Amino acid sequence: MSHGIKHVAIIMDGNGRWANQRLRPRVWGHVRGSTVVSDIVQAADDLGVEALTLYAFSTENWSRPSQEVGALFRLLHKFLLKERKRLLANKVSFRVIGNTTRLPQDTKDLIAKLETETKDFAGLKLTFCFSYGGRMELVHAMNSFITANPGKEITEEDVQDHLMRPETGDVDLLIRTGGEQRVSNFLLWQIAYAELCFTPTKWPDFTARELKRIVESVSKRERRFGGLPAAADKNLPRPEVQSIHVQ
Ligand code: FPP
Repeated sequence: MSHGIKHVAIIMDGNGRWANQRLRPRVWGHVRGSTVVSDIVQAADDLGVEALTLYAFSTENWSRPSQEVGALFRLLHKFLLKERKRLLANKVSFRVIGNTTRLPQDTKDLIAKLETETKDFAGLKLTFCFSYGGRMELVHAMNSFITANPGKEITEEDVQDHLMRPETGDVDLLIRTGGEQRVSNFLLWQIAYAELCFTPTKWPDFTARELKRIVESVSKRERRFGGLPAAADKNLPRPEVQSIHVQ
């Protein structure tokens, strides 16, 4: 697609506040939030995005009340059951990254099954970050490299290759809903050159239309990756090119 945004990552924030504003328990916001996840996966696919990475549960979220943590686990389980057919039909390649050891066994089984079924699909690369932290992923990458290559100096390419899902590549656009302007330990390596978009919209109110609007507006920004603007030296005289004769 012409917008050039290949990898979108989203921090889905604001569920709790959205529910509290409506005098409902925080979990109610997560329930609404999970229906938005389904819509946004479809919308990203429709927009021709190649990879969508969603922050579903951070390593810091373990400090929340166990009732809320349990509800988030159940929502993940329900999502997998509900969306399986659609993911398969749309050839979505699904992965969960993070430390899933504390998830219930039946959820781990569902994840493993879906990951196996979809691993060779060429469609949208959908990644859920669950019990995930960016620093944790970097430590994992480095340890995995060191174990395989004892004594060898590590390069940027090596770190990239040992990330939890290296094939999704760098993030082009990082969106955070809910009004906060923080990165919160999300995909620290992958967002090095990402365009950042912070929207006040709380996640349960986020829509396919807002995603499209953000992608369109960000695709108009000039991304320089540390270089100069494309037109920077157009009006400057060109330096004389001297030919050097080597005797
Ligand atoms: C942040 O909102 C959101 C989370 C901690 C979890 C994100 C989870 C979902 C969107 C629903 C789960 C769905 C699936 C499919 C796994 P917050 O609770 O921190 O909101 P607040 O900042 O208003 O308190």
